[in-house]
Amino acid sequence: QTKMERRSFIKASCTLCGLALVPGLLNSCSKSSTTTNKNVNFTLDLSSSTNSALQNVGGYVVSNDVIVIRTGSGSFIALSALCTHQGCTVGYNANSKQLVCPCHGGTFDTNGTVLAGPPPKPLQKFTVTQSGNTLTIKS
Ligand code: FES
Repeated sequence: QTKMERRSFIKASCTLCGLALVPGLLNSCSKSSTTTNKNVNFTLDLSSSTNSALQNVGGYVVSNDVIVIRTGSGSFIALSALCTHQGCTVGYNANSKQLVCPCHGGTFDTNGTVLAGPPPKPLQKFTVTQSGNTLTIKS
C-alpha cells in the first residue's frame, strides 16, 4: 500500500514539474524586467478631463505604460512607467522630484536614473513636445 501511495505521489509531483517547465508560467511575473527599449508615439490632450492632473506642476498621468509629468509651467517629461525590477507602475513624488515604485521601493530621478532599491536598469526616457493643448510623446 505504501508503494501505491508513493507512486501516486511521484505522479503528482511530476505533473507539477511539467507545469513548472512551461516557460510562460515561471517568467510571467518578471517579464517586464527584461524589456528593452520600446518605441512609443502617442499624444495627450491637455484639455481632456482624463489628463487634468497635468494642469498642475508636479501632476502626472500614466498612459500607454508611460508616465508623463508636468515639471514646470511649460515643461513636461515622459518616462517608462514600468519599473525595471518587476514591472510595477511607478508614481511621481512632486516634493522629492523622484519617481517611486510602490512594490519594493525602487526610486528614480527625473532622468530615469536608479537612486535606490532593486531596479537593475534606468527607466527609459521619451521626448515630449507641446503644441497648444497637444503633447506628443515619442521615443
Ligand atoms: Fe519596482 Fe520591485 S517592481 S522595485
